[in-house]
Amino acid sequence: MRVVSTVADLRAARGDYPRLGFVPTMGFLHEGHLTLVRAAKARMGAVACSIFVNPTQFAPSEDLARYPRDLDRDLRLLEEVGCDLVFTPTPEAIYPDGFSTRIEVEGVTAPLEGAVRPGHFSGVATVVTKLFNMVQPDAAWFGQKDAQQCAVIRRMARDLNLPVEIVVAETVREPDGLAMSSRNIYLAADERVAALCLIRSLRAAEAAFDARERSGDRLRLAMKAVLIAEPMARPDYVSIADPDTLAELDMVDDRGAVASLAVRIGKTRLIDNLLLGEARQKWLR
Ligand code: PAJ
Repeated sequence: MRVVSTVADLRAARGDYPRLGFVPTMGFLHEGHLTLVRAAKARMGAVACSIFVNPTQFAPSEDLARYPRDLDRDLRLLEEVGCDLVFTPTPEAIYPDGFSTRIEVEGVTAPLEGAVRPGHFSGVATVVTKLFNMVQPDAAWFGQKDAQQCAVIRRMARDLNLPVEIVVAETVREPDGLAMSSRNIYLAADERVAALCLIRSLRAAEAAFDARERSGDRLRLAMKAVLIAEPMARPDYVSIADPDTLAELDMVDDRGAVASLAVRIGKTRLIDNLLLGEARQKWLR
């Protein structure tokens, strides 16, 4: 496994791989990230991973300084899963003095996470475009866990004719159903138990959908009922949304929906989602 931190070294290494998969990350890797790396390696024969805690996707009030980091452990884990190339740029390499360009994806960035975190998806779209241009992968893997991020990257790749296939991989969960996340380490023991209300809420929507409920309001109500029963949970939003635009749905049609939510448990904000109906096959194919 080669580890490079400059764009020049990355460019020099890139030529050695006729086909290259790519997994962008912010590090502090867990089984969710590693599953993406394995999938990319299996499909493409070679995989690059970037580790970069991207300052432009954090608001001043958010957890940039507090974001967990452990590069030695990350490199060990990447070596174990057969990663070929790791890119660990400095903030100055990505955002040199005078940097003044931003990618703005409209529409799909407006609701949900975009409404609560202004500028977040512009930061994500900008850094992912830069990383694509630097790594020049043939395909890139993203986790369904961040469903809106997947929708934004897909929209951007189409709109800008990026020569990168975007692959979405299913969310990896703890045995009890909690979606794996670098932020889970912030949870105290009682909060960790309370955090299970996210997946219970999503499964309530899924059960109602499977029982042929198609009203957006009634599906959202099924989700809220679970959250209200958890005293430690402070919901930011619950959503039953169009799988392409992420606009809230009055009625779910044959295309299915993205059921998603954001919930604060103590100081930690958690997100999760499930894909209902056809959206599942379409997103994960
Ligand atoms: P990060 O949060 O480190 O996540 C990197 C990738 O791992 C993302 O595609 C994310 O969706 C995926 N991932 C996280 N948890 C997962 C889980 N439980 N199961 C499956 N996949 C999971 O997302 C980012 O970094 C950044 O926004 C980035 C795209 C790197 C741009 O800075």
